[in-house]
Amino acid sequence: MYRTHTCGELRRTHVNENVTLAGWVQTVRKFGSITFIDLRDRYGITQLLFGEELNTQLDNNPLGREFVLQAKGIVSERSNKNTNIPTGDIEIKVSSFSILNKSVTPPFTVQDDTDGGDDLRMKFRYLDLRRNAVRKNLELRYAVNRAARNYLHANNFMDIETPFLIKSTPEGARDFVVPSRMNAGQFYALPQSPQTFKQLLMVSGYDRYYQIVKCFRDEDLRADRQPEFTQIDCEMSFVEQEDILNMFEGMVKSIFKEVKGIDYTEKLERMSWEDAMWNYGNDKPDIRFAMKIANLKSAFKKDGQLIATGELINGANFGVFDKAETVVAIAVPGCGEYTRKQTDELTEWVKRPQIGMQGLVTIKCNADGTFKSSVDKFYSEEKLKAIASFTNAKAGDLVLILAGTEEKTRKAISELRLELGERLGFRKKDEFKLLWVLDFPLFEYSEEDNRWVARHHPFTAPKPDHIEVMINNDPVIENAAEYLKHPYANIKANAYDMVLNGNEIGGGSIRIFQRDLQEKMFAALGMTKEEALHKFGFLLGAFEYGAPPHGGIAFGFDRLCAILGGSESIRDFIAFPKNNSGRDVMLDAPSTIDDKQLQELSIKLNVQS
Ligand code: AMO
Repeated sequence: MYRTHTCGELRRTHVNENVTLAGWVQTVRKFGSITFIDLRDRYGITQLLFGEELNTQLDNNPLGREFVLQAKGIVSERSNKNTNIPTGDIEIKVSSFSILNKSVTPPFTVQDDTDGGDDLRMKFRYLDLRRNAVRKNLELRYAVNRAARNYLHANNFMDIETPFLIKSTPEGARDFVVPSRMNAGQFYALPQSPQTFKQLLMVSGYDRYYQIVKCFRDEDLRADRQPEFTQIDCEMSFVEQEDILNMFEGMVKSIFKEVKGIDYTEKLERMSWEDAMWNYGNDKPDIRFAMKIANLKSAFKKDGQLIATGELINGANFGVFDKAETVVAIAVPGCGEYTRKQTDELTEWVKRPQIGMQGLVTIKCNADGTFKSSVDKFYSEEKLKAIASFTNAKAGDLVLILAGTEEKTRKAISELRLELGERLGFRKKDEFKLLWVLDFPLFEYSEEDNRWVARHHPFTAPKPDHIEVMINNDPVIENAAEYLKHPYANIKANAYDMVLNGNEIGGGSIRIFQRDLQEKMFAALGMTKEEALHKFGFLLGAFEYGAPPHGGIAFGFDRLCAILGGSESIRDFIAFPKNNSGRDVMLDAPSTIDDKQLQELSIKLNVQS
């Protein structure tokens, strides 16, 4: 038997027992004739004490970091207890040991505060995974996995696997493709999600499906994106939006309870996409803090109406505001005493290429009720007061105003709000705020391709009372610049996103389940009948054999784990992640393949080096 106990198991109650432990050598400390070794495994660390009698044996077999060691001995109470670890009351007085395997000197120390940089740790990920911090993340991931499965199983969902080698139908991200040897010149694609399969399973009558499944998307990477990531993918039949919201609100609450011990009892706030964009400049607002946007002037239309025309700022001959399509502001609490240096730094921040604004206007709301502004040449104190009060600023606050084109400015104020929220400590890692965002537009207009694109995906149904608008209008646009006037611009989707602390953790929709409406959707997206049949003939065909009304959702499993674990980066919660260039630096993949493989696949490369 290799071991009788784990390295995290022994306590004072085990004193005087004979035990055998096996694990990795974390540290070796020699004090005169005795040697202490911290032995580590997945469960913890136990101190081993090697007495004088083992010195010759130790000298003949010197132990180094990460050696795999088996030690037999007796559990004894420590005189010098370590209250930092659960096994800190005891140590093992070793009677015999054997080295099960040696280790070369590891490239970084395998401890909580490692000396290894990111790249090195990724290259030796199997060593990094030995570290507590990483192991805890994977344990949390497994706990979320179990909690989701328990909930879904209890609610009659059935886990059904779907294929990875499928047909390329790029929509949204690019596909990863796999050449087929047996079908020369033809390619499979890896699924961006099991979307069409889960819908087919509904047609087949499996009315509650789920899968914790890998998805593959060839898109630009960020901290919250990996080229292969995992979804908790779900679909239900005979449901309306309300049924789905309730079911999955329940799932996430149950995960909170099981994994974090948090009773998230309040009902999730629901916000329309328009309100999210209007008040936060963002379709995944972080509602842990307020600092809502004040729309002084805007080209944004709510319910098709233009609602901020600029009364408060017009007529002052301030060219920047007069020329701007959109002028938006936030009131930053308690920052009215910012120095010139501090406001200059914020100005530089919004001028960075990632934000791309020309400048920043400030109004300091002094404690004595006066106002000081970077534009007081143009605006009287009374005007400044009116603007500040419109932004809900109080005495002692700082008003920040951005002006420019609608999309860019709204995005910039949203980023600025998040940045200040972060700096002021309003985005606490241990506070969790969930939110449903609803009523997304069904279509976006791509000026580049001169056609409508599905905002979510082409299988999402319009809101029931918008179906007629879709059927009765021709999608073609005469003048691309005026696409907002087309009736399609106002069609809302029967879709929903779940947002946690400013991150989209899930998204889904009620689906189209009738062939003619699905065909109309493909046509609206600029597909010819032939193209639609070539790409999605299987789905259109299936809809003719009694497809039930259905809908679903998919959660970003990695993202959910990262947020619950208090991290920004999903990489920390994936056992073997890719780096930001999509590389696995441990495997050194992707890599070239040899000529013979290329020949078998009938592929000729055309790579310019
Ligand atoms: P969607 O594309 O919104 O929907 O994806 C669902 C959720 O998956 C997560 N996610 C990602 N996580 C890590 N890396 C990525 N590259 C990545 N892309 C997406 C997000 C997102 O909310 N089939 C539909 C779902 C449906 O309609 O039921 C879908 O895939 O958290």
